[in-house]
Amino acid sequence: MFYELAITKRTLRDKGILIFLKKFLRYFIYIILAVHFKLTYRKTASIKKLIDSIFNHSGGIIAPIQVKSELFELAKLIKKKRPKRVLEIGTMGGGTLFLFCALAHPQAKIASIDYCFKNQEGGYAFWRKYFYRTFVSKRQKLHLLWGNSHNFPTVSKVRSLFKDGLDLLFIDGDHSYIGVKQDFENYSPMVKNGGLIILHDICKHPEELNCHVDKFWHKIKQGKKYLEIIENPKQGWAGIGIIIKS
Ligand SMILES: C[S@@+](CC[C@H](N)C(=O)[O-])C[C@H]1O[C@@H](n2cnc3c(N)ncnc32)[C@H](O)[C@@H]1O
Repeated sequence: MFYELAITKRTLRDKGILIFLKKFLRYFIYIILAVHFKLTYRKTASIKKLIDSIFNHSGGIIAPIQVKSELFELAKLIKKKRPKRVLEIGTMGGGTLFLFCALAHPQAKIASIDYCFKNQEGGYAFWRKYFYRTFVSKRQKLHLLWGNSHNFPTVSKVRSLFKDGLDLLFIDGDHSYIGVKQDFENYSPMVKNGGLIILHDICKHPEELNCHVDKFWHKIKQGKKYLEIIENPKQGWAGIGIIIKS
């Protein structure tokens, strides 16, 4: 909440009342959309309905940055595994987080990391923290970790949360070569045998986006048991790479 107050003060001082009112209105609309989503969402065992809800029935607030058909295939795999310990790097709007919570074990521990380079002192928006906490069922536990996934305090927090290792690691944070490599090196050793290490954005992206997950993926998949979920190899973004740890 203090983070929102600081932003309010800064926006009023630097940008004026009109921009402040615009931002306030947007914030308020997001809250209404979140409440509407919670009131109208019906739990379902159907993966198709679940994915449709995330993409279409949330007014865009939790729409994931994913290709729908790729996420559908990934969801089928996760449903079979029912992971008990899940770590996501890159919460953003919470679309993939919602999916992981819905498909994980009923007593799963789930953590998601995010961070904003422009506003490092910030955090998850106040309303989002409450909204995300509603994603988990009674016996599941959710940990929202605000911090750079590459920094030692974040890594050690994750290590202490998941002393028994991870069943699912989803890497969708920093997409630079060095960034994805660092996330892989920091967190993939925590994944247990049989667990899944999932990288998003393994397709080749336009050079100006500085997304080089494809290059890293092609290097690390060698000699490992892996799967690729790609709707169209020429789509220029997305694509999911999965390593089954053995
Ligand atoms: C592509 S988005 C994640 C999309 C989300 N998984 C989905 O499908 O809806 C990437 C997110 O990772 C966060 N991020 C980027 N680098 C990060 C880092 N080093 N540590 C933590 N979060 C990071 C960004 O702030 C952004 O919210």
